[in-house]
Amino acid sequence: MGKKEKGRIQSIRGTRDILPPESDRWLWLEERCRCVLGRFGYSEIRGPLFEHTELFQKGTGEGTDIVLKQMYTFQDRAGRSLTLRPEGTPSVARAVIERGLLKRAKVLKLYYIGPMFRYDRPQAGRYRQFDQLGAELVGVPGVEGDAESVHLHVMLLRELGLSQFTVKVNSVGCSKCRPTYSRLMRERLSDELENLCEDCRERFERNPLRVLDCKVKGCKEVAQGVPPILESLCDECRSQFEEFKARLGLIGLSFQEDPGLVRGLDYYTKAAFEIHHDLLGAQSALGGGGRYDGLIELYGGPPTPAVGFAAGLDRILLSVEKEEVAVPPALPVEVYVASVSQAGREKCFVLASSLREKFRVEVDLLGRSLQAQMKAANSVATRFSVIIGEEELSSGIYTVRDMESGEQEKVPEQDLREYLRRRLGL
Ligand code: HAM
Repeated sequence: MGKKEKGRIQSIRGTRDILPPESDRWLWLEERCRCVLGRFGYSEIRGPLFEHTELFQKGTGEGTDIVLKQMYTFQDRAGRSLTLRPEGTPSVARAVIERGLLKRAKVLKLYYIGPMFRYDRPQAGRYRQFDQLGAELVGVPGVEGDAESVHLHVMLLRELGLSQFTVKVNSVGCSKCRPTYSRLMRERLSDELENLCEDCRERFERNPLRVLDCKVKGCKEVAQGVPPILESLCDECRSQFEEFKARLGLIGLSFQEDPGLVRGLDYYTKAAFEIHHDLLGAQSALGGGGRYDGLIELYGGPPTPAVGFAAGLDRILLSVEKEEVAVPPALPVEVYVASVSQAGREKCFVLASSLREKFRVEVDLLGRSLQAQMKAANSVATRFSVIIGEEELSSGIYTVRDMESGEQEKVPEQDLREYLRRRLGL
């Protein structure tokens, strides 16, 4: 049952209605992003919004905050446990195997844009339904893939006019060296348990690395005393991390090394990265990702290297506001067809309908006076108005008003389309 206030059903906490003109900004954002993704050779994958719960338990990880605390899990009518996707990577990995995508191409470049669901405490920049743009590069084992993935994320932000952000990188090691580091962390943390927050005490057993990115003051202090993971990396991970950074340098991307960057999902191996906005508050991560060489195999597919990231579009739009980026306005109305009297209304309706084959047209649907129609025309900032009165009705020659200069011209109906096309520069 929906929550009711004074008898009215309200939206669910942590969800939003994106209304015009904000929805115009979303369209702009998505269009710009799709353009960049095209330049990097990515194609869209549209998957289901819900999956078998097991997919996330296994992939995202049993011990992660997402799986333990944040999933919207329910039973369907047949008693299956299903979950609204909290992230997109497991679904892409599943689809790669289930649809045999690697039989079609050695390298897959897939992106998705859409809503994700996480039950977390809502605050500025954190919602229970939010939109992510994810980009997954499957089949590339080398560090060029890692660097290209970071570059794509940065390019997306730059394309939107953003500049005040920081790229952070780290390596989280592989199945060979990470267990050694986890063991070392447990050893170090075992004497400090009373100084850790409740969440970190839980993490201690399952995923001690997560203590490194806890925001609680006491945990931060404890984390400072732990040697960085880089010191525990095996030779292969260490040299790949150096090469990864060198590749970023080659393409002129500046970054910070952050030994505390460990990501909140279990499937990562080797390169990990996040991009933080410099002006956003607590929820400053615009996006994050890294290499996940074991995930497809974990789901029963062949061993397949992969790297990718997801960017939070809600937060990107908050940064667009923070940086005061001038977002181009939505396409304006080009022609407003107005009638002087009731007699002209039918003609206006027909003319507007046919002009819409080529132009963005508005016409009054409420039977309003000419004055009210002109007010409406001004409020939609139309370029031209076509005004139809008695004389225009009988002669078929219309008055066209340039709404910027106020100048009027007489234009016969048969020349109207050509006239508008020319004046609008189409
Ligand atoms: P993630 O770090 O969990 O990674 O999420 C990526 C981004 O989604 C975050 O940096 C943030 O911008 C946004 N985000 C996450 N939770 C919320 C929320 N509650 N409200 C608003 N925005 C949010 C992943 O999801 C991985 N699947 C990324 C990936 C793709 N790794 C490899 N491929």
